[in-house]
Amino acid sequence: MHANQPFIVCDNLVKIYKVADLEVVALQGLDLQIGRGELVGIVGKSGSGKSTLLQILGGLDRPSAGRVTVGSHDLLALDHSGLVDYTRHTTGFVWQQTGRNLLPYLSALKNIELPMLVAGTPRKLRQARARELIELVGLGHRATHRLTALSGGEQQRLALAIALANDPPLILADEPTGELDARTAAYIFDLFGRLASDYGKTVVIVSHDPGIKQHVGRVIGIRDGRTSTETVRQQARVGEAEETSHAEYMVLDAAGRLQLPADVVDELGFRGRVTIERVAEGVIIRTPRDDGGSSGRAAS
Ligand SMILES: Nc1ncnc2c1ncn2[C@@H]1O[C@H](COP(=O)(O)OP(=O)(O)OP(=O)(O)O)[C@@H](O)[C@H]1O
Ligand SMILES: [Mg+2]
Repeated sequence: MHANQPFIVCDNLVKIYKVADLEVVALQGLDLQIGRGELVGIVGKSGSGKSTLLQILGGLDRPSAGRVTVGSHDLLALDHSGLVDYTRHTTGFVWQQTGRNLLPYLSALKNIELPMLVAGTPRKLRQARARELIELVGLGHRATHRLTALSGGEQQRLALAIALANDPPLILADEPTGELDARTAAYIFDLFGRLASDYGKTVVIVSHDPGIKQHVGRVIGIRDGRTSTETVRQQARVGEAEETSHAEYMVLDAAGRLQLPADVVDELGFRGRVTIERVAEGVIIRTPRDDGGSSGRAAS
């Protein structure tokens, strides 16, 4: 694989759930590229397809059509045992509900050892690595505690250590801070950041919280099962100080499709058809003359 190649590539990704006679299109031609070692947030309204995307990237669900590759793995081509191996060694998951990440009757340390036990790691190695990981997430003093003795924030830190147990290159988190207060959430985001910057992990975090943009390099907005916007954090030096700003972009997919933000569509009264006029700086999108006169300017 080429070194400059993105680690994750989704190309016209489609996921259709069949429920009785109904078909639910959860992802409808999603395009996405994420680099190795990148820390990315995914935001979008409820039902927009965030968890579906994460489950597919995690090998927990199969896409219906399109292309999705993670490293050298083509997730549409993997057979069952290939997929099991992929989930075990390539991805680590952190869920919102702390209970889903952990086994309550085991100590914190044993919880971290479990994925390694399943993967067949020798005992000595397992114990040493569990120790190392529990220190990494700052829970060394809680090693022998059962889960009932841990706070919500401590349980999510432990979940991160468990996700890291088999040293996967990709960490996926679905609303990992959804049940935590702002201060604890900031600590968890900081931990995710260190995984990317210090350990080269690729980290993808789904969140409802637009404030996530303070914690990640890039936020990808999903709307109706498609990538719609990107917010990129920019670091600039102003005199002595380092200033952070955020640039917002709309995403033009490989087929040339663009999703206008809902508020823009509402405000300009766009419905059904629009016209496009090319001007020097780009294009102007308008409601056709006989439908009223709204227009939106878009530079390209
Ligand atoms: N297992 C399933 N069977 C049928 N439909 C599903 C299934 N999982 C998700 N869906 C549907 O697919 C669409 C996308 O759901 P998804 O869970 O990915 O959204 P989400 O962005 O994670 O939402 P939320 O923010 O509420 O978690 C929704 O319409 C949902 O009802
Ligand atoms: Mg979800």
